[in-house]
Amino acid sequence: MTRRDFIEKTGSASYLAMLGLGFIPEAKAKPFDLQKNKADKSIVILGAGLAGLCSAYELTQLGYKVTVLEARSRPGGRVWTVRGGTTETEIGGTLQTAQFDKGLYFNAGAARIPHNHELSLHYCRLFNIPLEIFMNMNEGGYYYSEGGTGTLANKRVKIREIHADLRGYTAELLTKAIDQKALDAEMTKEDLEKLAAYLKEEGDLDAMKKYKGSERHGYTRQGGYGEQTPVIAAPHALHDIIAAGLFHPAFSNVSEYTFNQQPVMLQPVGGMDALPYAFAKKLEGVVQYQTVVQEIRKTQPGVKIICKDKTGTIKEIKADFCICTIPLPVLKNIPSDLSADIRRAADFVPYMNTGKIGLQFKRRFWEEDDKIFGGISRTNMDITQIFYPSYNFMGAKGVLKGYYNFHDRALKMGNLSLAEREKAALEQGGKIHPQYATEFESSFSLAWQKIPYSQGGWAEYTDVQRKRFYPALTKPDDEIYLAGEHTSYLTAWMAGALESARAVVEQVHRRVNAS
Ligand code: ALA
Repeated sequence: MTRRDFIEKTGSASYLAMLGLGFIPEAKAKPFDLQKNKADKSIVILGAGLAGLCSAYELTQLGYKVTVLEARSRPGGRVWTVRGGTTETEIGGTLQTAQFDKGLYFNAGAARIPHNHELSLHYCRLFNIPLEIFMNMNEGGYYYSEGGTGTLANKRVKIREIHADLRGYTAELLTKAIDQKALDAEMTKEDLEKLAAYLKEEGDLDAMKKYKGSERHGYTRQGGYGEQTPVIAAPHALHDIIAAGLFHPAFSNVSEYTFNQQPVMLQPVGGMDALPYAFAKKLEGVVQYQTVVQEIRKTQPGVKIICKDKTGTIKEIKADFCICTIPLPVLKNIPSDLSADIRRAADFVPYMNTGKIGLQFKRRFWEEDDKIFGGISRTNMDITQIFYPSYNFMGAKGVLKGYYNFHDRALKMGNLSLAEREKAALEQGGKIHPQYATEFESSFSLAWQKIPYSQGGWAEYTDVQRKRFYPALTKPDDEIYLAGEHTSYLTAWMAGALESARAVVEQVHRRVNAS
């Protein structure tokens, strides 16, 4: 029986049966399917990032009395779109105001939605947020390896050339191993023959099973009209690819290979903040902005939050339950009655250092001159990556991300002044795009570890830390529940925040209805 037959024969009641039989994965966005619907409790939510907004939205839908306390004057937390007029002052930094032209922006935090993140897509669908393709993978982008030797070192090279050549050479080498009988003990003769045939296609090998180059690598002259015959470029020598340093992890093919970054990726039209603003619109009067949490106290039962509002007045908010979405590096400095285990986790779970810079240029030279429409160039220089905008193709001007880096590189870049960051981004990026020198207009940079109320990119657990600290973050602490990407296995993704929010809402609602 096919899946369709099954549905047609058994009708809509078959859904649960099919779930039970494992025919369809359980939908994460299914409505809260709770028996009773008592919601006569008050809930205070700390933080109007995605976890706080989603919790607040679902709880108000269920009928709870909800208050959200948000330190910033905007919703979204690390889901933040920088446009002309956006301001920010980093911890220990100076006021920065983005000078971008109208219509130009960059997503300073969350920037790409995987096609397999159901909840992120669910809420975009629910709020009618139009999505467009986020180009995460562009064979027309560049690699630039600094410091190596040989013909490919210290120069830009099209990603497609390296990908095509490495597929070709690895296929050729493996074929050679088969022919030299090195794999006879591993596989049957028949399977080896099939593997060899597959490798010929995979690497675009010639009749002699050699990789001699391929149109996949590109042309020295593309075909055209009349006598313009195409001339396929010679491949790079394998040794040159290695000597240049292009085997460094900086150039690994994450955008194509990793589950969360495989094409297709998506982005809201006009900026990622469309999602938090859509939630916020449903929560008018519920979210109190510019309200900074000062203490988190248990009243047994219930909670009491001491906060400072935008007028500087200290207030006390009492509620039956609290959902705390404050990132751990911020939470650890807030006096609280949280359990020792949670406070220990807040002290020891490390967060990613990460930064981005938006660079506005007078002209979209990456499109006009270099035929790059969205996607990423990669380098082992401190800038790590250049992201080309996946919107407004063929427009007059553009804002690209001049760096998006992590760990020590982000720490180093973040410790520079704004002017020095701009200079470093222009100098390093200028090696890939010499047009930087004449086309640059303005920049806006940020180091997430220095952004107030975030103080880090995302929770970055090692296996040991996950085992030791994570469990305390996913258990209720009396009437306090934690949510946020750090309480999920989808750290660094909006879907982690959303999944944690829904899980916690369900836990609270079950508890209220069990009482
Ligand atoms: N999820 C983050 C990104 O897309 C880490 O870069």
